[in-house]
Amino acid sequence: SALPDLVVVGSGFFGLTIAERCANELGLKVLVLERRHHLGGNAYSEIDPETGIEVHVYGTHLFHTSNKRVWEYVNRFTTFTGYQHRVFGKYRGQVYSLPMNLALINQFFGKSHTPDEARALIAEQSREIATEDATNLEEKAISLIGRPLYEAFIKGYTAKQWQTDPTELSADIITRLPVRYNFDNRYFNDDFEGLPTDGYTAWLTRMAEHPDIEVRLDTDFLDPANGVAEQFKGKVPIVYTGPIDEYFDNCEGRLSWRTVDLEVETLDVDDFQGTGVVNANDQDVPWTRILEFKHLHPERTYLPGKTIVVHEYSRNASVDDEPYYPVNTAEDREKLLKYRDLAKKEPMVLFGGRLGTYKYLDMHMAIGSALSMVDNKLKPHFADGAALT
Ligand code: FDA
Repeated sequence: SALPDLVVVGSGFFGLTIAERCANELGLKVLVLERRHHLGGNAYSEIDPETGIEVHVYGTHLFHTSNKRVWEYVNRFTTFTGYQHRVFGKYRGQVYSLPMNLALINQFFGKSHTPDEARALIAEQSREIATEDATNLEEKAISLIGRPLYEAFIKGYTAKQWQTDPTELSADIITRLPVRYNFDNRYFNDDFEGLPTDGYTAWLTRMAEHPDIEVRLDTDFLDPANGVAEQFKGKVPIVYTGPIDEYFDNCEGRLSWRTVDLEVETLDVDDFQGTGVVNANDQDVPWTRILEFKHLHPERTYLPGKTIVVHEYSRNASVDDEPYYPVNTAEDREKLLKYRDLAKKEPMVLFGGRLGTYKYLDMHMAIGSALSMVDNKLKPHFADGAALT
């Protein structure tokens, strides 16, 4: 059969934005190759058939952005609910409102504070260490918010997230630890926020609904048995959104990632924790947080008496794990520079998305960066014949 105009490797938000724009705006025939059995990348979700609850298969996804262009773009494919994310944290048998705010300070120290009193208290407690003298994450955190709040809300959680004692983590991991001297507990402070009304998969599926977009599932671009790399490399432009190290056969070594184990279970209670996310701030509780999906869509109707919760456990990813968060050690950054050099020399291939750039990208960032790639690389190439570099 005839070659497509463009091959996109990966059907996450980055790949689908490229495919959608190239089909609709540039009139191209696009072939999307996806190695999983479903499209959508990590934002993919499934409706549990028993309870009707939407389960985010690769971890909770909350959409938020202040980028007007991205907001207008995504609204072509879905409407959004008015959901506003809020997070709570459990510590020593008590539940606190996060991010650290006046409600938390009052509850934790057992008395009410005016904003100025709270500021004075935290300033006093953080005097123990000067920020410029901090030699590790623990000292840095204490220098910013004081020891009591650090030990309750940062220490255990951070230790579990990194499986490393905070005294052995670099001070650079945190630049600031915002404390809000008011009762505002909205998690995101973006201009736009909400969840896709009929779910992530409906949204992602609509992005690929164009007669000139073909999505081929269960097809790993790098598996020689598929023959796809051989068929397309050097013959048609390729946008590759898989891991950059894998593309080059890990020739400079593997980039390190952290992963999250998600333990999903259906419970016979109507409401387990009264909200979507409760962090586990105690160091001796093995999970980092518990998600309860039905609270993300309170507007939906569910089977009563049932709920679905997920316990999350954070750890270093091995080769067979889903790569979630770049570890980004000095060694990783060195390898990445070498891979970027190789990527620049790879003819007719553009690297993008979170795996292709080894960067944590929120959904709005992945979509925004794909729109820029269309404007700055693909449109000049296909519309004006510019070289693809
Ligand atoms: P993504 O990983 O989604 O897609 C890449 C696709 O390429 C995958 O489907 C993969 O199978 C495929 N692929 C890889 N190699 C291939 C190959 N060789 N051949 C064929 N296919 C291949 N963002 C946000 O805004 N709010 C949130 O709350 C969250 N929450 C969140 C939780 C967790 C645990 C994670 C890890 C991430 C988030 N995110 C998020 C980020 C969000 O998941 C991210 O922005 C998008 O997944 C980025 O889309 P990409 O297309 O870049 O990658």
